[in-house]
Amino acid sequence: MIEALIRERRSIRSFEERPVDHALLLELLELATQAPSASNKQPWRFFVVERGPRLERMRQAVAEARAALLQRIPESSREAVEAYGTYFTRFAEAPMVLAPICRPLQILSQLDPSGSPEIARMEDTSATIGTALVLQNLQLLAHARGLGTSLMTGPLLAEPALKEILEVPRGWNLVALVPIGYPREVPPPTGRKAVDHVVRFLP
Ligand SMILES: Cc1cc2nc3c(=O)[nH]c(=O)nc-3n(C[C@H](O)[C@H](O)[C@H](O)COP(=O)(O)O)c2cc1C
Repeated sequence: MIEALIRERRSIRSFEERPVDHALLLELLELATQAPSASNKQPWRFFVVERGPRLERMRQAVAEARAALLQRIPESSREAVEAYGTYFTRFAEAPMVLAPICRPLQILSQLDPSGSPEIARMEDTSATIGTALVLQNLQLLAHARGLGTSLMTGPLLAEPALKEILEVPRGWNLVALVPIGYPREVPPPTGRKAVDHVVRFLP
């Protein structure tokens, strides 16, 4: 049931060594990419990195970006940032990490040469949202098959270095890193704000 999948999915950050079968991942991605996208442009691509030297370079790049951040913030905030930042490199513990990228739409920006910032933002956001919908589908599908995932944007602190390591083509954005594997943990339920707190009906 989709309701149970939505309620019971948790972000998984600790994984068994067991690898994820490529055919299974492709099956899940084929389903996940049935997500809607603006003008059905499907502005997404997915790099798949398995445990090895490239993943280690990614971990190092994020650790370096985190260390540089710690150097430049006030001493009084360092402890909090250090605690928060420990989650940024957890992706490297997974047997497989997905690196979704997306390219901002080029529909209105091609037709309107004025370089409007609103159009740029709309086309950029459209690509990111479409890709995020695929990732949510993927998280639910993975959960349904006994796999665990988490969606991580903390590592984007090192986006330029990660793009270089991943050989992301020019003009494409790195959306997140998504570790995937068989869970080694069963995280407790995470709370949500009451729906009447987050919804306002307008007259
Ligand atoms: C956009 C986005 C970015 C996130 N970034 C990180 C991250 O960098 N590191 C991490 O450990 N978890 C990250 N998460 C996972 C959240 O911490 C998690 O979804 C939230 O605490 C609720 O827990 P649950 O997913 O288990 O319900 C991210 C989730 C989203 C949607």
